[in-house]
Amino acid sequence: MGGAFGENGRDAERWADEDGCGWCRRRLPAWCRVTQPRESQPLLRVSSLGVRYGNGVRALRDVSLDVRRGECVAVIGPSGSGKSTLLRCVNRLIRPTEGEVVLDGARITHASGRARRTVRRRGGMVFQQFNLVQQLPVIDNVLLGWIGGAPAVGRCLAQFRRFPAGAREQAEACLARVGLADRAASQASQLSGGQQQRVAIARVLMQDPEVILADEPIASLDPASSSRVLTLLREICDERGVPVLVNLHQVDEARRFATRVVGLNAGRVVFDGAPGALATQQLERIYADTPAARTAGDIDMARTDRVPQGVVA
Ligand SMILES: Nc1ncnc2c1ncn2[C@@H]1O[C@H](COP(=O)(O)OP(=O)(O)OP(=O)(O)O)[C@@H](O)[C@H]1O
Ligand SMILES: [Mg+2]
Repeated sequence: MGGAFGENGRDAERWADEDGCGWCRRRLPAWCRVTQPRESQPLLRVSSLGVRYGNGVRALRDVSLDVRRGECVAVIGPSGSGKSTLLRCVNRLIRPTEGEVVLDGARITHASGRARRTVRRRGGMVFQQFNLVQQLPVIDNVLLGWIGGAPAVGRCLAQFRRFPAGAREQAEACLARVGLADRAASQASQLSGGQQQRVAIARVLMQDPEVILADEPIASLDPASSSRVLTLLREICDERGVPVLVNLHQVDEARRFATRVVGLNAGRVVFDGAPGALATQQLERIYADTPAARTAGDIDMARTDRVPQGVVA
């Protein structure tokens, strides 16, 4: 396995300065590292990724993807094409059966135990159903983004909703960034869906991730809220250079908000390019009739919010 902790002096020095992965303050094990300087490689490199689930379903086949800082990548494709599986691999929620994922110089594919928890924190997840603790105040939900990277004593005190003043200030700033400073004390359940999704984004900001992974973040939202959520994700991407991978069923939204679109069909990348290059022919290929696409048809008939827009039948 190549390169432990920097074969050249500059690399080793940089890692030593940053004490591991930087924001979570935990040093990744040496075997996790690759040696190239970060500047010369994409922030996220997915190489020949394959996933076969225990039931034999091949969810991803030979997926390769380089994502650079500041890229906002919309992943589109029919239901069952492997979009969520891809995000879960990047976040190390599942372990791929083939290939490798390297995030900011760290091999995350085979991380386990503590290293796996560390790499998970490097990807901030935004979910369709927001995943907020409904009975907690909004500010506490945002603070949950801090807990994973906090020292043990901080995590202990957090169980009693006691947080350091610095963390609270940071959480307030994150809430302000998503336009919800005035709702800090509200119970999460009192917010609309769009507002809850913005709280979930504030929680991700609190986590200070190296990549943001959003799995159908607008599937439960009305058009106005959807637009606001996607605008926010794009702005964060532009402001901080944090790349965003967002799974979408809405082709029009992918065109409007992404800097790049990746199309999956039956677990393979069949399109990877600029939104402007996504014409009828490409869409037909992405949504081509496969077993996965046929399943998508069934689901889409039942859930009109998931019918891909702009797709030629
Ligand atoms: N835990 C699992 N065990 C077995 N098979 C799974 C599992 N999760 C997903 N699959 C299968 O893997 C394939 C890809 O699923 P995935 O959820 O990644 O697709 P998707 O593109 O996100 O679909 P959707 O648009 O409906 O969310 C599907 O055939 C699905 O049935
Ligand atoms: Mg999915």
